[in-house]
Amino acid sequence: MSAVGFPDQEDEPLSPHNFDRLTTFIKDYCGIHLTDAKHGMLEGRVRRRMRAIGITNPNDYCRIVFDEKGPNVESEITHLIDAVTTNKTDFFREATHFDYLCQKILPEILASGQRHIKIWSAACSIGAEPYTIAMLLDDFCRKHHGLTYSVLATDICIQSLEKALTGRYPEAMVDPVPPDLRRHYVMRSSDPDCHEVRMSPKLRSNIAFARMNLMDEHYPAPRDFDVIFLRNVLIYFDKPTQVKVPAKLSSHLRVGGYLILGHSESVRRDGLPLHPVANTVFQRR
Ligand SMILES: C[S@@+](CC[C@H](N)C(=O)[O-])C[C@H]1O[C@@H](n2cnc3c(N)ncnc32)[C@H](O)[C@@H]1O
Repeated sequence: MSAVGFPDQEDEPLSPHNFDRLTTFIKDYCGIHLTDAKHGMLEGRVRRRMRAIGITNPNDYCRIVFDEKGPNVESEITHLIDAVTTNKTDFFREATHFDYLCQKILPEILASGQRHIKIWSAACSIGAEPYTIAMLLDDFCRKHHGLTYSVLATDICIQSLEKALTGRYPEAMVDPVPPDLRRHYVMRSSDPDCHEVRMSPKLRSNIAFARMNLMDEHYPAPRDFDVIFLRNVLIYFDKPTQVKVPAKLSSHLRVGGYLILGHSESVRRDGLPLHPVANTVFQRR
């Protein structure tokens, strides 16, 4: 508080008007739906971003982003979106999907005579999901001569993609990786004080990372994926976006390809050629 008892600018809360402007903008830009209950969470994340650029008043920040439209506003919007995304992820998260991949999908591809396997991780966060997929594909291809694979890994969050590209993770994060895969694909530092591991160059070279917004009308991606992982991102979207995104993605699967959602997610299949084949796994027919 200032000496005369009025709030300093730093203490000024995000106004309801600016909360509405932010939530509307975020929903239109990336589909993330923030209800009134998320006011505190949004304000906290915006304030963290403001601190990084030396702004103290959240309403000033909104004025700069929405009203002044200066030359750096596009880049600030990218930072804002980075700040509001939730990037929680893990290696081998929701492991039954990876069992299904190894026990059903990969043997089916092998039996069909197809020689190249193509998988898309469509909200890849910091990379734990695409590296998990790449470890399993690489292992499968090593055991079946003549097979190759590629993984496309996309996300809207630039900071997450930058982390993913380095392939570096805290040591404890790879605990869920089975020991034989860890031996092959996870490199440890020779420095005993370094508690970071790195994914092998082989895996890194088989994954293409790119920024992609699932809200875009069209996705600049091939239309013959064998599997698309779309896990733990629909939950953040509003209802219309929860319908549109799986519909658009299903047109990027080959016939017989699979769409895999997070365990707590579902898809409205009216008119879509998607058939449930396992818990939150759908096949394009
Ligand atoms: C909770 S993480 C899920 C990561 C991973 N799929 C998993 O299940 O572990 C959700 C990710 O979705 C991304 N995301 C949110 N909105 C997006 C959008 N419109 N387009 C692309 N990615 C988006 C976020 O940046 C975040 O990295």
